[in-house]
Amino acid sequence: MASDKYFLYHGLLLPAVAHNEESLKYACDFKVHDQDVFAVTYPKSGTTWMQEILPLILNGGDLTPVQSIPNWDRVPWLEETRASLVLKGQPSPRAMVSHLPYHLMPPSFFTSKAKVIYVTRNPKDVMVSSFYFHKMASFLDDPGTFDEFLDKFLSGQVLFGKWTDHVKSWYSSDLGDRILYITYEEMVKDLRGVVERFSRFLGRELSKEALDRVAKQCYFSNMKTNPMSNYSLVPQDIMDSSKSPFLRKGIVGDWKNHFNPEQDAKFTAVLKEETKELDIKFPWEEE
Ligand code: A3P
Repeated sequence: MASDKYFLYHGLLLPAVAHNEESLKYACDFKVHDQDVFAVTYPKSGTTWMQEILPLILNGGDLTPVQSIPNWDRVPWLEETRASLVLKGQPSPRAMVSHLPYHLMPPSFFTSKAKVIYVTRNPKDVMVSSFYFHKMASFLDDPGTFDEFLDKFLSGQVLFGKWTDHVKSWYSSDLGDRILYITYEEMVKDLRGVVERFSRFLGRELSKEALDRVAKQCYFSNMKTNPMSNYSLVPQDIMDSSKSPFLRKGIVGDWKNHFNPEQDAKFTAVLKEETKELDIKFPWEEE
């Protein structure tokens, strides 16, 4: 049974603090423009990172937006309550993020030429990141023990449902060259190279200097000190960074510090079974 901290949408748990009937109706009726750009993620896979990268690329490497506008107003979530305010009258190209699974995107998205970057992250690291997020965010239920949270994660009783459903929905899209798939792990490994790929994909080729500038701005250490991106503007009773900072570690493989061998075996088995129809080798499966 979901607590009153959640708004249930097509069986998915969404934080009621930022989602309601009206915001989801807005998302569903949204008229997507051909020039719109979306970054879609399962929560804790690099959304905030994309909110930093996209405006920099779309503005030719100009740092002003990321230094002056909080991430949630700079690149809003399509399904959140602020979207209607932020996107009202905004000129193209509009950049948005979304946690919606593929089939819940607005109908106009499918007939548009809007581009999408879908970011995936090792689900074990996603779970660890989410565990700490639940500890620091008062608008979410306490995660319980790590073991309890692992079961909730595997059964999909977490924000935006099952990781495997989300990833499968987007990996079986028929968007052709409108979609670019990337992993958090690739971004950590070679951020500059990834920014270059993004800019080419979005038809916004940047100079060498601009690429250097964008990548530098988006390194974890720099984002962590950017008040427009590190959630320090949010009051402590809503997000308590003394319990865990929002920009927590920003690394690959932190799950190894949290999973015991039994938890690892259980998680791996469930994921393997549920993703067996996907013909993809993710970077974390090569370990
Ligand atoms: P950790 O909790 O593992 O540190 P989202 O924005 O989708 O909620 O994801 C948050 C996760 O992305 C957090 O992971 C956060 O630290 C990480 N992250 C955000 N910006 C990053 C960056 N520039 N480099 C690496 N990781 C980043």
